[in-house]
Amino acid sequence: MTQEELFKKLIAHCKEYGFIFPSSEIYDGLGAVYDYGQNGVELKNNIKSYWWDSMVKLHENIVGIDAAIFMHPRVWEASGHVGAFNDPLIDNKDSKKRYRADVLVEDWMAKQEEKIQKEVEKARKRFKENFNEEQYLATSPRVLEIKEKMEAIHARFAEALNANNLDELKQIILDCEIVCPISGTRNWTDVRQFNLMFSTQMGSTADGANTVYLRPETAQGIFVNYLNVQKTGRMKLPFGIAQIGKAFRNEIVARQFIFRMREFEQMEMQFFVQPGTEMQWWNEWKNTRMAWHRALGFGDENYRFHDHDKLAHYANAATDIEFNFPFGFKEVEGIHSRTDFDLGRHQEFSGKKIQYFDPERGESYVPYVVETSIGVDRMFLQIMSAAYTEEKLENGEERVVLRIPAALAPTKVAVMPLVKKDGLPEVARKIIDDLKYDYNVVYDEKDSIGKRYRRQDAIGTPFCVTVDHDTLTDGMVTVRHRDTMQQERIKIEDLRAMVDNEVSFRNLFKTIKA
Ligand code: GAP
Repeated sequence: MTQEELFKKLIAHCKEYGFIFPSSEIYDGLGAVYDYGQNGVELKNNIKSYWWDSMVKLHENIVGIDAAIFMHPRVWEASGHVGAFNDPLIDNKDSKKRYRADVLVEDWMAKQEEKIQKEVEKARKRFKENFNEEQYLATSPRVLEIKEKMEAIHARFAEALNANNLDELKQIILDCEIVCPISGTRNWTDVRQFNLMFSTQMGSTADGANTVYLRPETAQGIFVNYLNVQKTGRMKLPFGIAQIGKAFRNEIVARQFIFRMREFEQMEMQFFVQPGTEMQWWNEWKNTRMAWHRALGFGDENYRFHDHDKLAHYANAATDIEFNFPFGFKEVEGIHSRTDFDLGRHQEFSGKKIQYFDPERGESYVPYVVETSIGVDRMFLQIMSAAYTEEKLENGEERVVLRIPAALAPTKVAVMPLVKKDGLPEVARKIIDDLKYDYNVVYDEKDSIGKRYRRQDAIGTPFCVTVDHDTLTDGMVTVRHRDTMQQERIKIEDLRAMVDNEVSFRNLFKTIKA
């Protein structure tokens, strides 16, 4: 199965099992907007808890807030979003399809990487056990030719982006002979800038309505509350403010399911530090955040850092944590050193002094900021693509299992009476009554036990607990583990401790190794 086919199956699975539905589906949906279903919302809430607790509970010097989506329009002038929150777009005149010019070039570069990989695989087959990959990459004329071309384009691309040189961006597209995937032609328009913010009107027009924006990032709600939190919380540098909330971007090309949406959710933390210490903190947060991702157990090799070619208007250093999605390594989280840009600009635009008095230095200054910013939806997609597994079993049957880390699984335990009579349902209900205050638990009595197991595998439930006739006399149940499919008999009174050991955030947090 190709990665593309796998991804299609994953999207279908998300819908079939109540994780994600297209928005307003009965009206044929709305581009790049999605709704979370009964299982999706549970997984999403668990992702948010994993992030929130790791920030706010585990750090004495990080507190949370929940700012409004609407903000004073001047905020977005000060932040630079009105003037500079743009993507370069280009249209193909034949297909009339619109693309992000930078993404076309990035995709071209990814294709060159693939070409090199294909050359390596061909050579590996040819030279068999004598093959030395490192030496081949350093000497093969074909590989060197591709690399040289790629590096030259990469250098031009980074320069064009940083200089906002749209003509050069178009020239790169032409020089790389990039064609429209729909029409197959190179009949491109010029590259133009497109502002990604959604705007609307607040107040009635008779009163002189104001243009307000749907926030394109949650970070500004933190910046404008910096003084409020610092003063009321008597916070000392370094300290952080965390927030989870909706953000909106009028993405030009919304692709790849929930990877790029027009309405999405961010988990952002702004860490305020002394000027001059920001690089040290940037490195520290890079490691902390990478460890948070890796603790989920999807394989360290599936994560990597990718430094930005173009720094956003506010940053002096920026890297992404990328995950190996079915469509390649892509950004999940950004870690940005934002300097004193945002607080400095809000100080300038609001006319209010936004400074920190540093008792150690005996002076006041505008703090510097290191930001960690991750999309909830993108994290959701990352987990689902890593967790989705199709397996052939020893007895020839097949199963689809979501290997979601137990602490994040939507449902923790399914309790099943073997039959719907003889007092077994009553015992199952009693077990549920004991567990339901701590965990999401479901009751299932329909179909054969095998079918019930498959249903729970497909939504990633870590434990199925079966009540049978022996339970009535020995007080024990059969626990079936999702990943290994192993079964064990345990006492009903030991169930809670066993479940807790596997699904608790406490144990997950303990595996984070920064
Ligand atoms: N405050 C900084 C900021 O917003 P960003 O790199 O533009 O930085 C941060 O976004 C994260 O938000 C990304 O790494 C991604 O996970 C998520 N994100 C951004 N745009 C998104 C979109 N259109 N759909 C889904 N997630 C998105």
